[in-house]
Amino acid sequence: MKRRSFLKNAAVLTGAAAVAPHVLQACAPVAKDINPAASRDFHYRQDGSFTVLQFTDTHYIAGDPRSERALNCVKEALESVRPDLVIHTGDIVFGRPDIQSAREILQPLAESGIPWAVALGNHDSQFGSSREEMFAAIRALPGCVNLSPKEGVYGCSNDALTLSGSRGVEHVFYLFDSMDEVVLKGEEDIHCYDYIRHSQIAWYRALSEKFKASNGGVPVPSMAFFHIPLCELKEALAAGIEPVCGNNGEPPCPSRLNSGLFAQFREMGDVKAIVTGHDHDCDYVLPYGGIHFIYGRFSGGDTIYNHLGPDGYIPSDGPTAPGTVSGCRIFRFLEGNPGFSTWVRLYGGTEKELLNIE
Ligand SMILES: [Fe+2]
Repeated sequence: MKRRSFLKNAAVLTGAAAVAPHVLQACAPVAKDINPAASRDFHYRQDGSFTVLQFTDTHYIAGDPRSERALNCVKEALESVRPDLVIHTGDIVFGRPDIQSAREILQPLAESGIPWAVALGNHDSQFGSSREEMFAAIRALPGCVNLSPKEGVYGCSNDALTLSGSRGVEHVFYLFDSMDEVVLKGEEDIHCYDYIRHSQIAWYRALSEKFKASNGGVPVPSMAFFHIPLCELKEALAAGIEPVCGNNGEPPCPSRLNSGLFAQFREMGDVKAIVTGHDHDCDYVLPYGGIHFIYGRFSGGDTIYNHLGPDGYIPSDGPTAPGTVSGCRIFRFLEGNPGFSTWVRLYGGTEKELLNIE
């Protein structure tokens, strides 16, 4: 099943579960945080480096042999890279039993001793459990540093993690919940991917102001991690701007409604990169308006479409193609440096598309 027909078919396949998030305003906060002692302010290693590993779109289904590739990919990358923080940008699961599927694919993270966080994807609440139930189950796993949902903020996995040096916070990693799907009422109802809501933007702006104030009035370099890319990526491509590296195997599939998060990032002047998943055949980097759009590398197996091989996009009429390779994306920060470097790592160890971003 190719991407274009997927949204509609996914809704049909999953029935009522797919529509449930439309009425969700904000996840109810849980009574207390499960991992209250987990540090969410990270520090550089002795050598002054800090490494973030991003998995995305594992689309895991417990008991499905097509998912073996995803589990192997996660295990191998964790053992080889040994990052300081892991962020999974969603579509963690893709079938029932959904909670069991999440526990299995996240188990290597839970056992690694490495702190990790998630930004849920559109499919993570489409297979029986509500978004709140899925998020609570994930948060209960060892090593997860996501806090409970914030009262009055739309969605569940909105969060902010920090990386500090000797002079205070040097980087902020915002996580947003880009939710699931929505029906936009109008002359003609439009069924599309959800959009970032005002309450999430207000939450981000307040935090951004706070970090700026504590940094002598200077915006703190930040990154935003979430699942569904923003409309501006589509706009940039339509304007003829091309990726500076990586694979561009399909058009981006953002919401049909632009709620202005990109404009807020530009106004606040702190977010340097928007890191997403969602479009499995893309792992590129595209700078636009002073912000880098960065796709993670598809980390899943063959439960869903994917066509990225070791040397690029593999044309195929089917949902997958022989020779596709899963992977992850790596970000490296150096103390005192407002920029970072990033590259793609393929299963087995090949690293490519290194880019230094100031
Ligand atoms: Fe996905």
